[in-house]
Amino acid sequence: MSTPILGQPLNRIEGRLKVTGRANYAADNRYDRLAHAYGVLSPIAAGTIVRLDAVGAENAPGVLAVLHHRNIPRLHRCPDEMDEGLKAAEERTPLEDDTIYYAGQFVAIVVAETFEQARWAAHLVRAEYQAKPHALSLDEGVKQNGRMPRDDEKAERGDVERALASARMRVDETYVTPVEVHNAMELHSTIARWEGGRLIVDDSTQWVYGQPRSLAHVLGIPVDCVEVHAPFIGGGFGSKLFLWPHAVLAAVAARHVQRPVKFALPRPFHFCTAGHRPVTRQRIQLGATPDGVLAAIRHHSETHTSLVTDYVESCGEATPALYHCDHIKVTHDLIRVNVGTPTSMRAPGACPGLFALECALDELAIKLQADPAELRLKNLPPINEDTKLPWSSIHFGDCIRTATARFGWERRTAAVGSMREGREILGWGFAAATWPAHRSLASAKVELRVDGSAKVSCGTQDIGTGTYTVLAQVVSELTRLPFERIEVAIGDSRLPRGPISGGSLATASLVPAVAEATRRAWQKLPATFREQRLALPEALRAAGRDSVVGEATTEPGDERENFAFRSFGAHCVEVRWDPGITKLRVSRIVSAFDVGRIINRKTATSQIEGALVMGIGMALMEEAVYDGRTGRVVNDNLADYHVPVHADTPAMDVTFLDRPDPHIGDFGARGLGEIGITGTAAAIANAVYHASGKRIRDLPITIEKLLG
Ligand code: MOS
Repeated sequence: MSTPILGQPLNRIEGRLKVTGRANYAADNRYDRLAHAYGVLSPIAAGTIVRLDAVGAENAPGVLAVLHHRNIPRLHRCPDEMDEGLKAAEERTPLEDDTIYYAGQFVAIVVAETFEQARWAAHLVRAEYQAKPHALSLDEGVKQNGRMPRDDEKAERGDVERALASARMRVDETYVTPVEVHNAMELHSTIARWEGGRLIVDDSTQWVYGQPRSLAHVLGIPVDCVEVHAPFIGGGFGSKLFLWPHAVLAAVAARHVQRPVKFALPRPFHFCTAGHRPVTRQRIQLGATPDGVLAAIRHHSETHTSLVTDYVESCGEATPALYHCDHIKVTHDLIRVNVGTPTSMRAPGACPGLFALECALDELAIKLQADPAELRLKNLPPINEDTKLPWSSIHFGDCIRTATARFGWERRTAAVGSMREGREILGWGFAAATWPAHRSLASAKVELRVDGSAKVSCGTQDIGTGTYTVLAQVVSELTRLPFERIEVAIGDSRLPRGPISGGSLATASLVPAVAEATRRAWQKLPATFREQRLALPEALRAAGRDSVVGEATTEPGDERENFAFRSFGAHCVEVRWDPGITKLRVSRIVSAFDVGRIINRKTATSQIEGALVMGIGMALMEEAVYDGRTGRVVNDNLADYHVPVHADTPAMDVTFLDRPDPHIGDFGARGLGEIGITGTAAAIANAVYHASGKRIRDLPITIEKLLG
């Protein structure tokens, strides 16, 4: 038998197409008579459109149409029913009325023969506004709109107030994270075209199953009249999960001008009308015994949302499950402000949540004069104490021991600024990582062919994570057909229902469906040929078949009632701080994860490395800055909104424990797209404190803050 194909660091099967420019992303498609859309965005953050004059734009060269609140056809708000494939990122339909809720809201779109003509004409649309006071910060939002306590974000056990009052050692600090913007390399892009009554859409979406359903609902047409194609997606990070206004507007415009319409959002639009991670302000109170046993955790979060959608960044989601602790209380207030609608961004909730919690634990370790990694090891969760369920499998302690051993953590000296190399001061920081292990319904079809090839089809998508490759590996593993002979068809809503590429659940959902479909295809062969243990092509030939097809739909079962599914990890970070020239950089990250079985070591490692780099951005660079007067994002481009580049990227050492989860499904793979960014910013902030003695509790950790 050949070596197992699962786990191997195989190259992406679509990699060659990507590096040679032959992979067609949504905006790359060309159609006859393709028209182009551009948006007119509100320059004010709150108020009313009192006058809108589109005549100048309508008469500009090449303009085909200008759509605004007075002439857009009636649209229907999309319900939030994820199981049905329905969810719009913004509840309000685009151009719904004359009310302005945030700067950057669409007030009109122009459709023209060329992109340049559409953009020029957009500047000719004359709109007058009646502005009213807006709220941008959490405090202004509370004053204007009050607080919305979220019962669905609450968790409580024991008596946290009493436990805090009687604890010998305490920490009580508040941590703030700013607005971060996904900034996937591929712009949000939609090309919509109508053929007869059918709407065909090329889209950059993380959910080819959901997008046609949401679109059909908003447009008021039958769902089987809509198809969505997304063979390649250049990153999403949560911003491309749900339906945004530009996709609706492209479809409406295409119907209106009866031509294909392309709407590729310019980069600045992404900062107001395609989602962001909201501001979070989190108060963490910890109580502990002098020998480092956690006695109480109180976690209160405030996060913002827009005036048109209640998006909750679940900062406290992981808190009740991460450590053993008898007294815990988690609460959350949502606050409305006049900014574009926030949405899921890589590890929503846990990512800012663990920044707060894991920094607070570092502060506790310092008070206790305890080693921060040892402090975590002392408080490992034997079961999920929130749900009272046993873990399906847990190797959290081994993650901590692996990361610290590979990093050389035992050489750390605790005193601030005590580790020097020349002019540089080394800071070594630790933090834990965690993310729930979700799984959803998935369907797949597998065709095994007599020529020794196979095809696997599923209406999921690859957002750059390795989904194509993983599906081919599963079929190859089970059939022993060569990996190179497995064709993968995804990124098309006409294929069997596939999972969303979000919540780190695609692989865990797809692997069981593809495995079952493969087995069913195999079982289509008469038993005699299967029992002869012939290789697949010979078996098909002997049975006189050209091919056999298996289809399967799998979903999580009652294992979810018996076990808690969660992944864990640990980060050790080294920063170098040169106070002489005020230079700070991350020089080394060593991380270890327990994410179940690894299907492809290369794509898995790439996922984690990408998340670590994104964590560096979160810790040191990323912040969308709003102009207090207008509510517009000042740094709405990649020159002013800083993300890490290669020069900012340190040596990274990623280890997977690679122990299959025995209960999650075939092969025991959990997801890993998000866990890498959880805890990363905390580990960096903790390292910065160790180097500089500056405890920065509001991200990003800029040089100004270190000088302050
Ligand atoms: Mo992820 S934020 O679920 O794409």
